[in-house]
Amino acid sequence: MRVLLFTGKGGVGKTTSAAATAVLAARRGLRTLVLSTDPAHSLADALGVPLGPEPTPVATDLLGQQVDTQRRFEESWATVRGYLRELLGRGGVDALAAEQLTVLPGADEILALLEVRARVRAGDLDLVVVDCAPTAETLRLLALPAALGWYFEHAFPGHRRLARAARPFVGSEALPADDVFGSVQRLHADLAEVYALLTDPARASVRLVLTPEAVVVAEARRTFTSLSLYGFAVDAVVANRVIPAGGDDPWRAGWVAAQAVQLDEVRQSFAGLPVHLGPYLPEEPVGLDALAAYAEHLYGDADPLGAPPEIRALHVESDGEETVLSMPLPLAERAEVDLARAGDDLVVTVGGQRRVVTLPEWLSPRPVLGAALTDGRLVVHFGQVPVGAA
Ligand SMILES: Nc1ncnc2c1ncn2[C@@H]1O[C@H](COP(=O)(O)OP(=O)(O)OP(=O)(O)O)[C@@H](O)[C@H]1O
Ligand SMILES: [Mg+2]
Repeated sequence: MRVLLFTGKGGVGKTTSAAATAVLAARRGLRTLVLSTDPAHSLADALGVPLGPEPTPVATDLLGQQVDTQRRFEESWATVRGYLRELLGRGGVDALAAEQLTVLPGADEILALLEVRARVRAGDLDLVVVDCAPTAETLRLLALPAALGWYFEHAFPGHRRLARAARPFVGSEALPADDVFGSVQRLHADLAEVYALLTDPARASVRLVLTPEAVVVAEARRTFTSLSLYGFAVDAVVANRVIPAGGDDPWRAGWVAAQAVQLDEVRQSFAGLPVHLGPYLPEEPVGLDALAAYAEHLYGDADPLGAPPEIRALHVESDGEETVLSMPLPLAERAEVDLARAGDDLVVTVGGQRRVVTLPEWLSPRPVLGAALTDGRLVVHFGQVPVGAA
């Protein structure tokens, strides 16, 4: 069972390549579900069939699903939201502002990913293809479980027992009721599980969709770095809308030459990853047959599922004297990477995006001696526990 997430800049062909990959995989015998969180119904438009909020049969071995993000959101978040609204209101925040403060941007889409976990748990499929929202939103929503986990830990006491102990000091009315505790903890656990699933390269990987244009390639490079920062593995690049060479039209020849330069840049930037080329077709690839034909171009003889990426995720190595923590951070520039300690956590910031790495208990008292970017990895050296600190 594998999960493939398709992301990239707006309009580059995420929905088309996700749908095409799913159609081809199903035709080659894999039990496949393709699902979208895009409320614009573009997946149904690409497949050329209507889709429901539950998995809908589309062809042999192929299901399609348009997740109702609003409904999922209401189901999971309503109790927590009610509590936060009331708490803010009691704190003197007016009703309208409180209402706005309890809306987490992008939360509806992240909750839609709970659907992916449900399908993986059901275990009746070989492949789940996810047509994600455009780059920025997708990143935010994919990284949200980790960020939310941090938020929950700090905003809500971890244990009910702790909360009871605090009651004499803060007054009982300020504490959330049991059902709120329950739903916060459930939601936290659910999202942590989705995050663990989607950052496990053996089970899930991201396919970066781009078009061979300078601006798009530059954004894809940044996306590659930030996906790595948050622990997601990229397994391939889809370069879409590649203009086929031929004819003697100078306009076309100009584009073909310009795209060749960008494709070189793509191969160098994403060195080691397969780059699948999708031709700029004379018409929109809509419907199962058109998508299958497009996917044949894309993958040729290669397996649309691909091999799980061989990446070494965040890990810690110690030889007793010195301890080294390293994580993949491809294409990052030294100047944009920043490290800070926040209590027991290590905060890694790259170009304004931040990941809180919770250090193992035995590592947290050790001082950071230095850090370097080597071969696309961030390597952090820790020293010995200071004498008298243990
Ligand atoms: N290789 C191609 N040749 C011709 N048309 C294409 C090709 N790839 C995509 N298209 C068309 O371009 C349009 C945009 O593609 P698509 O919807 O897949 O992009 P997207 O990245 O999902 O966009 P959004 O960011 O809006 O979700 C669609 O009409 C699609 O049919
Ligand atoms: Mg789309």
